[in-house]
Amino acid sequence: MSMQGNKGSKEQGVRSKEKEKEPPTFAKATAGKEVRSQESGGVALSSLVIVFCLMAFACGGRAENNKPVDSSPKFTQYYNQGEQLYQKYCSNCHQKDGAGLGRVYPPLNVSDYMDNHFNDVICLMRNGKKGELTVNNVNFHQPMPGIPALTDLEIAEIATYIYNTWSHQRGIVEVKEASMILNACPPSE
Ligand code: HEC
Repeated sequence: MSMQGNKGSKEQGVRSKEKEKEPPTFAKATAGKEVRSQESGGVALSSLVIVFCLMAFACGGRAENNKPVDSSPKFTQYYNQGEQLYQKYCSNCHQKDGAGLGRVYPPLNVSDYMDNHFNDVICLMRNGKKGELTVNNVNFHQPMPGIPALTDLEIAEIATYIYNTWSHQRGIVEVKEASMILNACPPSE
């Protein structure tokens, strides 16, 4: 009984050794297949990536990039400067995509307030804004702190950016125009 048991385990030992030997060849064969399937997968993946890039470009082009209104160097300069200033001074609250934040910070990407209160928008950048304000039928009543350090030029640049991004296509906001409005702002509360 015990001998047979031993024999059995010996045989099993041999068999399992044979099995151990098998995997390398098997692995080689499949490794080749894997490489091949990865190659074709790679092609598929990279064409997918290209499609996604094209889609992102097309969408980005429509949703965010309304620049073609004006392709002059001056406009581009204002717009690019304005974008940087926006990201530095405004995007904390209004977000990079201009969507705002719930009922706390109003949106800029689509805003009837921006459409109808251009002068107020120029003024509030420097002087801030207290009290209630309605954007797209939603009331906001957090105060916005002004940024007195902004120069007329910087305000014109930010205005050029926010008024030509997302859904807006106003064209350049000249520094002359900004200065005129800024000189006539109601005193900051
Ligand atoms: C600390 C947060 C904060 C920062 C920073 C800030 N805002 Fe605001 N903004 C607000 C709040 C809050 C209101 C609403 C004010 C109210 O209810 O009276 C507002 C209102 C506005 C509005 C009018 C409402 C609308 O959505 O159309 C515009 C335009 C605007 N901000 C633009 C800017 C720009 C441009 C900057 C950067 C120069 C800026 N804000 C920086 C919080 C902020």
